[in-house]
Amino acid sequence: MYWKPEVYRIENADSIFSPGLLIFSDLVEQNLVEMIRVAGGPERLRPHCKTHKTQEVAKIALQLGVTRHKCATIAEAEMLADAGVRDILIAYQLVGPNLQRVVQLAQKYPNVEFTTLVDHPRAVTQLSRVIQESGDSGISIGVLVDLNSGMNRTGISIGPQAIELYEMVYSSDVIIAGGLHWYDGQNRQSDLLERTGAVNAGWGQLIRFRDQLLLSGLPVPRIVAAGTGSFPILAEHGEPNLELSPGTTVFHDDDMATRFPEMKFQPALAILTRVISCNRANELTLDVGHKACAADQPAGERLAFPELSSVTELMHSEEHLVIKTPDADQFKIGDHLIAIPRHACPASAVYQFANVIVDGRAVDRWEIVGRDRVLTI
Ligand SMILES: Cc1ncc(COP(=O)(O)O)c(C=O)c1O
Repeated sequence: MYWKPEVYRIENADSIFSPGLLIFSDLVEQNLVEMIRVAGGPERLRPHCKTHKTQEVAKIALQLGVTRHKCATIAEAEMLADAGVRDILIAYQLVGPNLQRVVQLAQKYPNVEFTTLVDHPRAVTQLSRVIQESGDSGISIGVLVDLNSGMNRTGISIGPQAIELYEMVYSSDVIIAGGLHWYDGQNRQSDLLERTGAVNAGWGQLIRFRDQLLLSGLPVPRIVAAGTGSFPILAEHGEPNLELSPGTTVFHDDDMATRFPEMKFQPALAILTRVISCNRANELTLDVGHKACAADQPAGERLAFPELSSVTELMHSEEHLVIKTPDADQFKIGDHLIAIPRHACPASAVYQFANVIVDGRAVDRWEIVGRDRVLTI
């Protein structure tokens, strides 16, 4: 297995409320160091904070020289700015009242460079209009054109309309053309050769498109691209203006660890759960219900247990998880277990704070600030 159970032992577990989120801060730092190594330098990384949502992790990244950060929400952007990040990409096309909020964000943090995404001319028009209507000539917001990498979630398809959109952004005197955005989160094949082929096929299209823009006299200052599955592959290209944006690797999780066994990241986020009932042979009922671990994964596949030899998740309700395990007779009510989420990012979002574990002891609490949708703006 990818985990070492001794890493997750906690001497003072009695002080931790369950279910409780755990962050192993040494592992977070190790994962960040490995992300920097794989990317080829801190300036080549733009980690997505949707995974950690904490000022403390953003500050560790800053100390390691990672100055560029990515997020999805206005609240996450505010959290990053409060942590001292000065270059923030909100990788989301803003619509409705969120357009006003990004202007307020730029006004609240005049020393922070904010960039956002567009994939349609209407988004350019609307963003430009709210900036102009603010009457504040000091506001400068960067814009990347979001391309559809084949994931078919957001982004404009490569082609003449994408060139027109890029020209529209470039010729605007209200917003600042920052380059291109490419998220290929569909490239999660566990077969490395297959994944490499798919990632590089997309990369080829992207670079041909970028070269077409350059030939038309349109500068492309940067490309922000990739997630966990693709960033080690794109890093190999040595493209100078590329910023790689993995998110999950900072905590890693059971899904990524089993899907990508070649990667050297360690799960740094876990949940401490306790046995609350154990009256049936080979079964334990734990207090990690689906309100305590995120339920985006199919039932039966939401958690991994490093201390148990094998586990079947039998029933998951709001406050209970019933598991079947041959090790059940070693546990009594009140005993705790460590569970590694299959998907770390939504797991952290269901907790107000994480217990921070250093050298096998809970020593601190970090607030999961970015779980909220609204901070002050
Ligand atoms: C736009 C964008 N960029 C980067 C990431 C990070 O990807 P991963 O979680 O695979 O590391 C995500 C993840 O959802 C994303 O949506």
